[in-house]
Amino acid sequence: MWEVDQVIQDITEGTIFEKLQKQAQEAVIKISHDELKQAVTALLCRPQPNPILHARILSNLVYADQYYEVFKTLELPHQLTVYEPCVGGSDPVIIATEAYSDGQANYLSMNLNHLLHEELQAKISHLKSDIRIIDENAQKVLNHFMPNSVDVSCFHHAINDALQTAVSEPRGMDTTRIEWWSNERQMIEWMAEDFASGLIEKRGKRELMEIIKSAVELTRSGGYLVFDHWVSLFYSGLDWFPWKLFCDLVPITRQWIKESDLPVTEFQFPNVDPQWWMFLRIEK
Ligand SMILES: C[S@@+](CC[C@H](N)C(=O)[O-])C[C@H]1O[C@@H](n2cnc3c(N)ncnc32)[C@H](O)[C@@H]1O
Repeated sequence: MWEVDQVIQDITEGTIFEKLQKQAQEAVIKISHDELKQAVTALLCRPQPNPILHARILSNLVYADQYYEVFKTLELPHQLTVYEPCVGGSDPVIIATEAYSDGQANYLSMNLNHLLHEELQAKISHLKSDIRIIDENAQKVLNHFMPNSVDVSCFHHAINDALQTAVSEPRGMDTTRIEWWSNERQMIEWMAEDFASGLIEKRGKRELMEIIKSAVELTRSGGYLVFDHWVSLFYSGLDWFPWKLFCDLVPITRQWIKESDLPVTEFQFPNVDPQWWMFLRIEK
């Protein structure tokens, strides 16, 4: 679905580029075409090689373009409504939404961590779409938004976020207030521990499935749930990191959804690896 040359064009002069803040635009146009080609190719790989040139500047732009292409391929309406649980400080789905709708979209998120929310506000203040981010658990999204009101729900690298939060809160970590990155190793270790002991069936799986179930209710019939996940090969060399588990989070979630009675049908796109992406159509 994603051609390297097209992605480069979108992020350096096209639809994604147009929606970036001036500073981000200036950073991306300084990068040579050869380096862009190398970096974009690497960022589209799963798992991603390490290191990747200019990854800090380019990664979110490439993810934004990936979602933009997904919206186009799904033929979503241009004045679309997008829901993204667990947005954190991360703007790719928002930029994709702004680009696809040319600023005419509604975007909703449920997010718990306050510091990441603040960080995100600074990145999106220039956008025209109607953006609403509620500081609450995504399990409660239907307390805030009407059922069947959304065209697509995007779980952008969010399976791990939901699981990590669900296993860390009962251990006393207030994930609404922590500095996320310095605590993430601990959260991932607890998640791995709970998978190994089987405890994940009681907490972690339940919360993630509740978030997915409420996203299904929130999304209209004929609409979609999209999941993506990525990891850098850098982590494969760390002794504490649960490499296989982390690589398997989409297949694990797929299995949990199959075992549920959710009214969804999975479909695939050629050349899009189901290990890292999952597309569900809502049929209710
Ligand atoms: C590191 S950010 C990730 C942002 C984005 N998903 C990404 O990977 O680029 C994780 C965010 O997910 C949020 N989160 C985790 N579980 C959540 C839940 N049950 N409800 C709402 N937000 C949640 C956290 O509070 C945090 O802000």
